[in-house]
Amino acid sequence: MIEIDSLEKSSGKIIYSSDRQDILSLPVEKIKELFKLSGLLIFKGFDVSCDQMKAFSKQFTSRYIRDSNRTFVDDFLGLVDQGMYALGPHCENGTTAFRPDAVWFCCAVPAKQGGETLFWDGVRVWEELSEELKQLFISKKKIIFSNWYPAEAWKHFLGTGATLDDVKQKLNSIEGLTYAIAEDLSISIEFALPSALKTKYGDREVFAHSFMMEYSETGEMDYFKTGTVKFEDGSLIPETAVYEIQEVLDRLTEVIPLQAGELVMVDNSRFLHGRRAFNDERRQIFSLLSYLNF
Ligand SMILES: [Fe+2]
Repeated sequence: MIEIDSLEKSSGKIIYSSDRQDILSLPVEKIKELFKLSGLLIFKGFDVSCDQMKAFSKQFTSRYIRDSNRTFVDDFLGLVDQGMYALGPHCENGTTAFRPDAVWFCCAVPAKQGGETLFWDGVRVWEELSEELKQLFISKKKIIFSNWYPAEAWKHFLGTGATLDDVKQKLNSIEGLTYAIAEDLSISIEFALPSALKTKYGDREVFAHSFMMEYSETGEMDYFKTGTVKFEDGSLIPETAVYEIQEVLDRLTEVIPLQAGELVMVDNSRFLHGRRAFNDERRQIFSLLSYLNF
């Protein structure tokens, strides 16, 4: 028996199974349609294991990628429990040219206290921003992000067998990206991301930026850090904009205390995610990052 419920502050949906139905028996095309409309699906009551998460996600995935900052259990399956501090709102790889379409989370062991997963619907966030701020993002066109990858992290975006030529070829093909390769073969990349973004499905205006993490990675605003994120023309994202966005985010936070066996499928072009701090070394939440096949 399946029931579908809406979340409170976003378009996200909770899909419940009251009788521990096998998640692999869910109709793939229907899930795709629901995902396109909702952007966030939380599967409860299916008692999903890591292997089932892999098999389920595979039905929607054309290719997986790794996140260079994670501990890996196998090729692509990562753990998201490093550090126990709060993580502010962000999209996965959202400051890079390698943003996956979807983020998958599967909870094996929840923290005894805290560690709730947080979500924000970027479409609602954009709708709630003032006209003035929207115009600023539209008129500035691009935000500049800088990232550095050690040589061993190329697999992050190219796979384990990548050569220097593969990397160059790939990076040369991406618009808005400049890079420099150092003697130790580490790569510095500067990437210009459109400041006014659209969702993958429905082409809707969305606030799906990760720069707020620069200001709130401890879960609180860190004003000493303001002045770190710039538009393409060199001007700073104004402090008033950061305050306004933070105020909207605070109002629209979905707090999801994931339980063991629960799975989340996130549209990474629409939803931001984060987490509350926790103090429990047993917490285990696995994740996958993937490009979607629809
Ligand atoms: Fe993340």
